[in-house]
Order: sequence, then structure tokens, then C-alpha cells
Amino acid sequence: MRQLTRAALVAAAAAMLPAAAAADTLKVGLLLPYSSVYASLGNEITDGFNLALATYGEGLEISTVQEDTEVKPNVGLAKTRKLILQDEVDVIVGVVSSGVLGALRDFVHRAEVPLVVANAGNSVMTGASCSPYVIRVSFSNDQVNRPMGPWLYEQGVGKVYTLAPDYAAGRQMIEAFANAYTEAGGEIVGQAFTPFQDTKDFGPYLTAAQESGADALFTFYAGGEAIAFVKQYGDFGLSDSLPLYGSGFLTSPLYVAAQGPAADGVVTSLHYVPTIDTPENTSFRATYRERFEREPSEYAVAGYDAGRLVVEALRTAGGPGEAFHSALRTTSFTGPRGPLRIDPATNNVIQNIYVYRTEVAEDGTATQVILDTIEAVQDPPAGCEM
Ligand code: BEZ
Repeated sequence: MRQLTRAALVAAAAAMLPAAAAADTLKVGLLLPYSSVYASLGNEITDGFNLALATYGEGLEISTVQEDTEVKPNVGLAKTRKLILQDEVDVIVGVVSSGVLGALRDFVHRAEVPLVVANAGNSVMTGASCSPYVIRVSFSNDQVNRPMGPWLYEQGVGKVYTLAPDYAAGRQMIEAFANAYTEAGGEIVGQAFTPFQDTKDFGPYLTAAQESGADALFTFYAGGEAIAFVKQYGDFGLSDSLPLYGSGFLTSPLYVAAQGPAADGVVTSLHYVPTIDTPENTSFRATYRERFEREPSEYAVAGYDAGRLVVEALRTAGGPGEAFHSALRTTSFTGPRGPLRIDPATNNVIQNIYVYRTEVAEDGTATQVILDTIEAVQDPPAGCEM
């Protein structure tokens, strides 16, 4: 089937093309949400990816085809089929939603086309359902949230209520935090999962959290849902009685301005914040701000690092194929977020996780104050056998 077709095509193409042209040419499928609740995330990843090609890709011929997953698993799978079978891309980059990643994993695995995951944190895809072809440069849902368990308990927060959207990412992020937090000694006094892409009014959930006796609220929301949730949390005036914690997507620099003062004081954890004080990040941040007139977010950096990984792997391998696939799994570098390498046991990235507080000034500008850095966070294999 697909493997045979692909092998035959590659052989025929190699025979027809002059060696130098074949070697430096790569076709990338950008598979991202360009509509719906995560559209801004998809655009930001695309901007980061294109910036990496402009920064690192001189002399290489890399073409891209963009497809919109709409944050729908069935659409994501259909677009994957199209990219692989019709467009014959050499590599796919993207995927924002954990649900979409779960839907297309088997197809890329069987087609043996590498997928560089530039957001979707679905932990199972680098755990029990791992594949040599699924290489994640962004984060896993476990990796971002697990460190917050002991960290929060050590701050003297003994009881927590949790809230997240009801889909794979929400469930996994909360489970990772809750397991680590209860192991450290904390107590989860209640939790709720809100209908994904279908909750406009968080009031009943905030009321339940308020009445639960919790010391704090721990959440995961992203994109449009994060904006609505944080604003409604602010309207409820809970910042003193029920302080807000979560994974850092909650107050991403991409949409913190839309959340306004409600985001002030929220403490979260993430693999990137714009205030990381390193030469690599200072230079990246300046370039990004000059080009796009905004702060880079974690989504921009995931796109940028995915682009750099693709470029460096292509230079190492000299062209698409098995050497390129292998180089995707073994290339490492220090980028805006810090040192980054792919774990050979799981294909998930190993990286620092930053605990940070968002501070919003009177003029509405937000900054991220890093409170702690947990270095080289690595997921256990969790059933992954390559
Ligand atoms: C996810 O579905 O994995 C996800 C979506 C947005 C932000 C972070 C994770």
C-alpha cells in the first residue's frame, strides 16, 4: 500500500532528478488549526516555523503546503491523508489538539512519514502509543504539569479544585498535576471538566470551585477558552480567596492582553516564556518582535524550533528519506527555551519547565516573572516501545 507507493515514488524521483536538486529539496505539510478556537495558535506556530526557515534555511529548497485541521479529529485525519497521498509531503509539521493527534497517529505510523509535533501534548502518543514516526518538539501534557504538583504543595497550598476542557489534553493535564500533587501530600477536593469548545458561561463551575473549600484553583485552558475563562474568573473577584494556577497556556503572551487585569498574579508552568534571560532568547525575542510586532509565545517557539529541527536534519541527511527521519530524532540544540533534545526512548522532547507569575501593569502590558526553573524534564517511557 502506501509504503510501497512511496518507496517507488522516491526511487523514481531520485533517478530523474540531478543529485544536488534532490538533496536540498523538502516538501513540508503544515497541519494546523487555521479556524475555530485554536486558530490563533495555528497562525502563531506557522509564523514561528517560517521565521526558522528564513533564519536557518539559506540554500535549502523547502516548500510548504498548509492544511486546516479546524480542531476536529476527523478533519485532521482527512487532511493528513491528503498531505501524504496527494501532496506527497516528506514530513508533516504541526497539530495543536491532543484529540487530533490521537486520530492521525496510526495513519502517519503506517505511512512511515515523519510527523514533527509542534504543539499537541497528548502524552499517550509518546507513551503507550508511541511511534518512531511521531517526534515531538513541543511538550507533553504530563511534562508541563507534573512539576507543578510538588511545587504548589511546597508553597503551602494543601487543597486544590481542578477545571479543564473535556477532551484528551484537559484530562491528561489535570491527571498529571493531580497525581504529582497528591503524591506530594496535597488533596484534590473536587474537579470538573467543561464541554470542549462549547462552554460560554464558566459561572456554575467557578461557583462550585468557590464552595469546595479549596485553597486554590488549578486549570488548563488555551486559546479562546483561556481568554473567556480568565476574564470570568476576574469578574468573580476570586484572586484573594481562590488563587489561580495552571499550565502556562492559560495566560499565554499570545492572548494575555485580551484577558486584561484578570491575568495579574496567575502562576503557571510552561516550557517557554518570553522573559527567559539567555543570549539565544534575547536575540530570538528581538527578531520576533521586530518582524511581528508582538511578544513571541510558546506556540511561536514550538513552530520555530520545529522549523530549526527540520532544517538541521535536512542539512545532516542531505535530503528526505530514512537518514532525514533518523536525524529528526537525534538533532539537539539550544534555542529560545533553553537546551532541547529528543528522548530516544519516547521521541518526546527533554527540556526545562519554567514556573512563572504573570504580572499585568496599569497600562495593560503583561510580563512573566520566572519563579523557578525545573531543568531537563523527561517523561518516563510509560509503556512506549520503539
Ligand atoms: C492540546 O490539545 O494538546 C493542547 C492545545 C492547546 C494548548 C496546549 C495543548
